[in-house]
Amino acid sequence: VGPKPLAGQRVLITAGGTVERIDPVRYITNDSSGKMGFAIAEAARDQGADVTLVCGRTDAAAPGGVKVVKAESAAEMHDEVMKRLPETDIVFKAAAVADYRPLRKSEHKMKKTSAELSLELVRNPDILQAIGEWKEAGGGGPFVVGFAAETTELEKHALDKLQRKKCDLIVANDVAAEGAGFGLETNIVSVYGARGFAEHLPRMTKRAVAERLLNIVRELKEGMEKR
Ligand code: C5P
Repeated sequence: VGPKPLAGQRVLITAGGTVERIDPVRYITNDSSGKMGFAIAEAARDQGADVTLVCGRTDAAAPGGVKVVKAESAAEMHDEVMKRLPETDIVFKAAAVADYRPLRKSEHKMKKTSAELSLELVRNPDILQAIGEWKEAGGGGPFVVGFAAETTELEKHALDKLQRKKCDLIVANDVAAEGAGFGLETNIVSVYGARGFAEHLPRMTKRAVAERLLNIVRELKEGMEKR
């Protein structure tokens, strides 16, 4: 057998949902299971890549044979991702990062009172956008794949994210469609890239989606390196 297709490639994948703490026992999170990110990690590992998985809260244990870094909040995930960019060839941002976090995190468990309670939320950093800006500032950098979970106007929102967040590829899925999205073993995605690249995949297992995504990235990356 010849060398594995991703031998020597350093692949960083974020997976799962972030946890934004209110107090030591309460938090805000989302429905992300981590399965899509884990499937990409397994497929990349099997293709010979050196894989780092930056994980938020997930439903299952991370796959073996990959380096696992825990990141609870969006801010932690931001720091863990940004510091690894100089040693990364391909980034998959499959994590569902919370857009907001509580302004104040209570050090002690909050006590109920008879009064109503309002939580003030502030914006989290957009990690994907920060990667795009980092690349623009320094030139070069990893090939970046973003994800877009939508419930309406899939293509429009995906193309907007591709441009705004300066990714090389966007993987869009309609989380409201049957057989797609959070927690399931299958997904239905459309992939959009720079210079009009578009591919619509049928309903497939997340592992099969992962294999196809890695092949698309390899083809596009090789094309970029030849130009
Ligand atoms: O804007 P939206 O959250 O739909 O974009 C999804 C993509 O952006 C995903 O790849 C997700 O990991 C990334 N993202 C991020 N930081 C955020 C919000 C989203 O990296 N604060």
